[in-house]
Amino acid sequence: MEKELKFDAIGVLDFDHWTDAKKFSYSPPLLGPNDIELKIEVCAVCGSDIHAANGDWGRTYTPLAVGHEIVGNITALGDNVDKIKFNLGDRVGVGAQINSCGKCLRCLRNRQQNCKDFVGTYQGVDKKNGFETQGGYASHIRVNSDFVFRIPDQLDSTIVAPLLCGGITGFKPLITGEVKQGSKVGVIGVGGIGHMSILFAKALGAEVTAISRSNRKKEDALKLGADHFVATAEKGSLDSHVDTLDLLVMTASSFSESDIDQTLSLLVAGGRAIFITNPPAQEKLTLTPPTMLSNEYHIGGSAIGSPHDIEYMLKLAAEKQIKPWVQTVDINEESVSDVWKKMVKGDVRYRYVFTGYDKYFK
Ligand SMILES: NC(=O)c1ccc[n+]([C@@H]2O[C@H](COP(=O)([O-])OP(=O)(O)OC[C@H]3O[C@@H](n4cnc5c(N)ncnc54)[C@H](OP(=O)(O)O)[C@@H]3O)[C@@H](O)[C@H]2O)c1
Ligand SMILES: [Zn+2]
Ligand SMILES: [Zn+2]
Repeated sequence: MEKELKFDAIGVLDFDHWTDAKKFSYSPPLLGPNDIELKIEVCAVCGSDIHAANGDWGRTYTPLAVGHEIVGNITALGDNVDKIKFNLGDRVGVGAQINSCGKCLRCLRNRQQNCKDFVGTYQGVDKKNGFETQGGYASHIRVNSDFVFRIPDQLDSTIVAPLLCGGITGFKPLITGEVKQGSKVGVIGVGGIGHMSILFAKALGAEVTAISRSNRKKEDALKLGADHFVATAEKGSLDSHVDTLDLLVMTASSFSESDIDQTLSLLVAGGRAIFITNPPAQEKLTLTPPTMLSNEYHIGGSAIGSPHDIEYMLKLAAEKQIKPWVQTVDINEESVSDVWKKMVKGDVRYRYVFTGYDKYFK
């Protein structure tokens, strides 16, 4: 019986026509003893969905359903899953990772996101069974229970979904950078992740500078709580902000329209810049050594967050009522295609969330 089970999904069938999203069905992996199956209620649209669907990171397999900001209800539990923590019907979330080896030093040190056996929610391969993973634009998903999160009752599914990848990705550099009351934080890129990073930095008490390419998002950034706004394309607009920031969170989806030396000049000496940008595979980040050493800048990368970080973020989001700005759209082939095209144009304020799963995936 189990072998014939199929989940319905929407995704890319042909990378040459990637915006033409199509319905397909796939056979899920067997439900392992540590796995949870959920019936998906909503899934938000991360910038990574676009990179993966358009082949920016390489043309992997098709059909490919993306989506890794998932909220749903539990429909099956493996034998070894903690039945005190999880019950059938519970509302839970899944982010960008669905498994890791669980044994290496990285996993044991709560760095599951850095495990060499990281299994992405989509465009990943689970070494255990060879399964090529399929994401949250689908009726159901099966996930190792270590990567399933209970959702605080106070948070709506559409609000919490974007937090599960984008939110943690924008929040984690604030943890690493030890942001606290009075810290001076710059967020580059007022997109999905950038706008959530602004919300979290404000919740931690930071003074926030939003850095965007143009003035188009100035009003929104200030509404989100940013104290200052800089448009990098406006001549001279950075001048008064040079040497002011302790931390720069670089959330743009590409470095192609960024001048790194210029943006680093916003940091105080010894300041830290953390990029979460995961650009097209051919892009390189160019740094100028004398600039780095004379200012003692620290540059780092950051990948989502660990399950522990995600739990902490969800708690904080419930306490501080962190609410990403979302646009809900009922899921179907046309709406997925349309949302992807809008994402490419930058026409999003600031996270699309697919809803209406019950209507579409009968
Ligand atoms: N590290 C991780 O674990 C992780 C996790 C999730 C996503 N990501 C990556 O994070 C990036 C952002 O994701 P997102 O969901 O926030 O995407 P998004 O909503 O599309 O926002 C990206 C923002 O980047 C800026 N931008 C776009 N094109 C640019 C260019 N050519 N040069 C400079 N800036 C540009 C824009 O901001 P302005 O208009 O304000 O300039 C845009 O709003 C993606 O690369 C994604 O793959 C990384
Ligand atoms: Zn590991
Ligand atoms: Zn993501």
